[in-house]
Amino acid sequence: MSKNQIVIFDTTLRDGEQSPGCSMNLEEKLRMAQQLAHLKVDVIEAGFPIASPGDFDAVQAIAKEVKGPVICGLARANKKDIERCAHAIEPAKKKRIHTFISSSDIHLKYQLKKSREEVLEHAKAAVKQAKKWTDDVEFSAMDATRSDWDYLRQMFQVAIDHGATTLNIPDTVGYTIPSEFYELVSYLNAQLKGLKGVNLSVHCHNDLGLAVANSLAAIEAGATQVECTVNGIGERAGNCSLEEIVMALHVRQDQLNRQTKIKKDQIYPASKLLSSITGISVQPNKAIVGENAFAHESGIHQDGVLKNKLTYEIMTPATVGISKNKIVMGKHSGRHAFREKLKELGYPLTGDDFQTVFEEFILLADVKKEVYDEDIIALVDTRIHEEQRFELEAIQVSSGNFAVPAATVSVLDNGELKKAAAFGDGPVDAAFQAIKEITGFNGVLKKFVVNAITGGTDAQGGVFVTIEDQGRVVRATGSHTDIVVASAQAFIAAINRIAFYNRSDDRPEKLI
Ligand code: KIV
Ligand code: ZN
Repeated sequence: MSKNQIVIFDTTLRDGEQSPGCSMNLEEKLRMAQQLAHLKVDVIEAGFPIASPGDFDAVQAIAKEVKGPVICGLARANKKDIERCAHAIEPAKKKRIHTFISSSDIHLKYQLKKSREEVLEHAKAAVKQAKKWTDDVEFSAMDATRSDWDYLRQMFQVAIDHGATTLNIPDTVGYTIPSEFYELVSYLNAQLKGLKGVNLSVHCHNDLGLAVANSLAAIEAGATQVECTVNGIGERAGNCSLEEIVMALHVRQDQLNRQTKIKKDQIYPASKLLSSITGISVQPNKAIVGENAFAHESGIHQDGVLKNKLTYEIMTPATVGISKNKIVMGKHSGRHAFREKLKELGYPLTGDDFQTVFEEFILLADVKKEVYDEDIIALVDTRIHEEQRFELEAIQVSSGNFAVPAATVSVLDNGELKKAAAFGDGPVDAAFQAIKEITGFNGVLKKFVVNAITGGTDAQGGVFVTIEDQGRVVRATGSHTDIVVASAQAFIAAINRIAFYNRSDDRPEKLI
């Protein structure tokens, strides 16, 4: 690795997944991990295997199936966590155990209830234990930025001396500021012995909106790895955003003189994929990937950009994978072009999956003049990886300011046609009541989000639902030019997931 190369450690699937509303199921994590591999991140932190059987399975599936990046799992500094982590990442060609323990007096006193000496012993034992499973061991001193610097140095020295190959300095509570963090990283860089061949890493939270600035300051002080997440998701206010740090390094190479291996044109598809999986869109003014990141509104700016883009644009949308001409496909596009487009968007579908999505696309292209990348992503999301026990056949609703909203819905249940009619508080509620009656779904609708996926009055509506049934939470999306149809699709897709998971668990059939 070149001296000026920054290792991009992506923790979207671990720290990112800890953000409210961002939890993902195994299939969603796998899909996101494949996109992270297309993006060419160096390390994927795939999860925290001891946290739950689901986390373990997801880390193991990613370790088995995702090629390219190092696959990393998180473990507290104890034998049980480390062993569980080691088993989960075992199938990966390149694997890392990331073990951590707190270093601040506040955490030692109130959380760990241990002395500094005891904690040093735990750190030492954890690194030694992890080294038995893999050579690639990362050690983090949690709450590093609120720790006594000399104690932090001692802790990292112990970690190096026992074989840690990456030392991570987390700003766990997003407390530090760039000048202070620069000093801390410089201090550790100067004081630690045996750092040659060891990565100095930073992991910044965004509580004061400084995660990217702090990470850049750390890089200037000699950090060689940055931990970050797509769209900056993560605990509380989130983590350092991958797209922002990567593009800052790229655009300001003149000052920073560092490179990453990131395939920048995969940044926007990664951001979109994550939003479509979690149902959480980035704010319009979000740097790099927000709706307005490249929109010039003021007359002076528009005038300048028309004369020469350099007047007001420091990077092009195309660099980060936003197609200049967003109109990508129409009803005359053939199978070949569609297959290529899917590949470009990070969905190399084959067989029946491809056929189904292609047919959906042709139907959509018939009712919608212009089909955008986002439309296609929405179609794929609705269709793939679902075992469709229930299929929406037809839906009709009546509503209005003087009518009681009513819906008549027909659904195929494993091919058998079933119908129901219901009233509701609105057309969507009425449709959901009818669907519940048909499917026997008895759980709770926990979240219902509607987005206009694309602009214009012929925009597709994207609907995102989260439902819960007997402790199992699933999410699904639907998209259609008619918002009630999109809602019904999303609801049925989620019920299909519940049915699928129940069946694969060999649990008693709860639906019907
Ligand atoms: O924020 C933090 O301190 C963490 C550690 C586990 C690295 O996420
Ligand atoms: Zn964190």
